[in-house]
Amino acid sequence: MHPLRCALTLPLLLLVSPTRAVDYQGDIQSILKEHCWDCHSNEKEAKGDLAFDDKEDLAKSHINPVGLIRPGEPEKSDFLARLKLDEEDDDFMPRKGKPLRSSELAKIEQWIREGALIDAANPTETEKGRMEEVKLANALSGGDVYFQWTNTQGKVIEAKYAGLEGESVKITMKTGKSFLVPLNSLSAESAALARKLGGK
Ligand code: HEC
Repeated sequence: MHPLRCALTLPLLLLVSPTRAVDYQGDIQSILKEHCWDCHSNEKEAKGDLAFDDKEDLAKSHINPVGLIRPGEPEKSDFLARLKLDEEDDDFMPRKGKPLRSSELAKIEQWIREGALIDAANPTETEKGRMEEVKLANALSGGDVYFQWTNTQGKVIEAKYAGLEGESVKITMKTGKSFLVPLNSLSAESAALARKLGGK
C-alpha cells in the first residue's frame, strides 16, 4: 500500500471502533444462547419461568434492585451466583451443562456492573438513570470520566471533574487544560453535579 494511503487508513480504523458499553444485545445474549437456550427460551422451554430470548420480560421482571440481576451489583445477583457455584451444587447453572468460561463470567459480571443494559444504543429512561449512576460511581472511584458542563448562558463543554475548591469546581478538558469554574456560573444541574461529585 502507498505509505500515504496507509497513514490515512489508520485514524479511520480508530474512528470506526469506538468503545461501546457492554449490553445484553451485543455481548450477553450469544453467551446465554450457547449455554442456556435449551431450558430458558420461548423457542424451546422456559424453566423456572425464565426465557432469555424475551428481552422485554427479562428487563421488566428480572433486572431490578431486588431481582435475579441487580444492576451495578453483580455480587448480589443470584443469576451470576448460580453460574459460579460448584458444578455439583443443586443450584448450579447451566443445569447438566459445563460451567461458563472465565471470560464469559467476566463479561457477565462487567455487564451487570455497568448497569445491565439491554441495548446501550437505545436505553430506556430507567436505563439512562442507571448509566448516569454508573458514570458517577466511576468518576468517584477515580476513573477517566467526561461530563458535559453547562453554564448559565447555555454553553456546554466536556470535561473531567477534578475537585471542588470552595465555591468553584475544577474541571479538566481532554486537552489537559484545567479551569476553575465558579459554581454560580453553572446551570443548576451542572452545579448540583459538581457538588455531588465533591460529596456535598
Ligand atoms: C438442562 C436445563 C437447564 C439449563 C441448560 C439451564 N437451566 Fe437454569 N434452570 C433450570 C431449571 C429446571 C430451573 C428451575 C429450578 C431451579 O430454580 O433450580 C432453573 C432456574 C434457573 C434460575 C433461577 C430462576 C429463579 O426464578 O430463581 C436461574 C437464574 C437460571 N436457571 C439461570 C440459568 C442460566 C444463566 C443458564 C445458562 C448459563 C441456565 N440456567 C441453564 C434448568 C436449566
